Amino acid sequence: MTQNPLVVIKLGGELLTDASKRHDMAVAIGRLTASTDLVVIHGGGREIDTELATRGCAKQAFDGLRLTDAETLEVVVNILAGRINTQLVAAAKHAGVRAVGLTATDAGVSTVCRAEPYTTSTGTTVDLGFVGQPTGSGKPDLLRRLCDDRFIPIVASIGSDDTGQLLNVNADTLAGHLAIQLKATRLLIAGGTAGVLDQEGQTIPAVNKFLLQQLIADGRASAGMVAKLIACGEAARSGVSRVEIVDGRQTDDLNNTKGTRIDIHEPAN
Ligand SMILES: Nc1ncnc2c1ncn2[C@@H]1O[C@H](COP(=O)(O)OP(=O)(O)O)[C@@H](O)[C@H]1O
Ligand SMILES: [Mg+2]
Repeated sequence: MTQNPLVVIKLGGELLTDASKRHDMAVAIGRLTASTDLVVIHGGGREIDTELATRGCAKQAFDGLRLTDAETLEVVVNILAGRINTQLVAAAKHAGVRAVGLTATDAGVSTVCRAEPYTTSTGTTVDLGFVGQPTGSGKPDLLRRLCDDRFIPIVASIGSDDTGQLLNVNADTLAGHLAIQLKATRLLIAGGTAGVLDQEGQTIPAVNKFLLQQLIADGRASAGMVAKLIACGEAARSGVSRVEIVDGRQTDDLNNTKGTRIDIHEPAN
C-alpha cells in the first residue's frame, strides 16, 4: 500500500509558552495538514527550566541534552506529557484541528533505552541520568493509523525503557528518529531562532555534512543547536529528503519558513 507523504514537525518549547502562541501554531498546523499527513513532536525546555528554578533545582545540560536526575525527571514528565501536551491538544481543538496527545511510550511508538554516557562536543564524558535514546526499533504504526484517520498525533518527548522506567528524550532527537522510521518526506525543526545562525547572527541558508561537523566542532553551534544538527544530519543521511531548522515564530506558512536547510546527499552505492 502506498503511504501518503508525511511531515514530522518539531516545535521548540519557546514557541508554546502562552495561549496566543499555541493558537497561532495550531492554526498553522491545521493549514499544513490540508496538504500532507503530519506528526507533531514538542519540547518544553523553557517551562521546565522555570519549574526547576522554582523548586531550587539547578539545570545542567550538555549539547542540549538535559542531565536528568529523579526530581528533574518528575518535572519533565509533568510539564511535557501533562501541561504542554494537553494545552497544545486543546489549542488544536480550538483551532478546529483533531489532535491526539501521546508520548513516545504509547503503543511502543518509539522504543528507547537509557542513554550511554555522553561525550560532549568539547570532549567531556557525562552520565546524563534518566535520559533516553531511541533504539530505532519502535513501532510507529499507531502514528500512521492516526494520520490515516485524519487525526494529528502530538507527541511529548517522553519514553520508557523495557523495565518501565520513564526517560526524558530530547525532542529533536525523537523527531529525527520518528521521521526516519515513518519514512517522512520532510523533517521540520521549528524553534525560536531564524534557523542556524552564524557569528553575526545571520541565518546560514544551507548546511552540508562538512559544515555540520565544523559548526559543532568550532562551537558556532552549541547547546540545543547541537542536538538539532545531529538529529537533522541523521535524518537527512537516512533518506528524509527535505530537512530544515526553521524559525517557528513565523507561523503564516509552514511550507515557506525562514531558516536553514540540511543538505546531505550520500553517494548511492
Ligand atoms: N548557531 C546557532 N544558531 C542558532 N541557535 C543556536 C546556535 N548555537 C546555539 N544556539 C542555541 O540553541 C538554542 C535552541 O535550542 P534549545 O534551547 O534546545 O531550543 P528548543 O526548545 O527549540 O529545542 C537557541 O535558542 C540558541 O540559544
Ligand atoms: Mg532543545
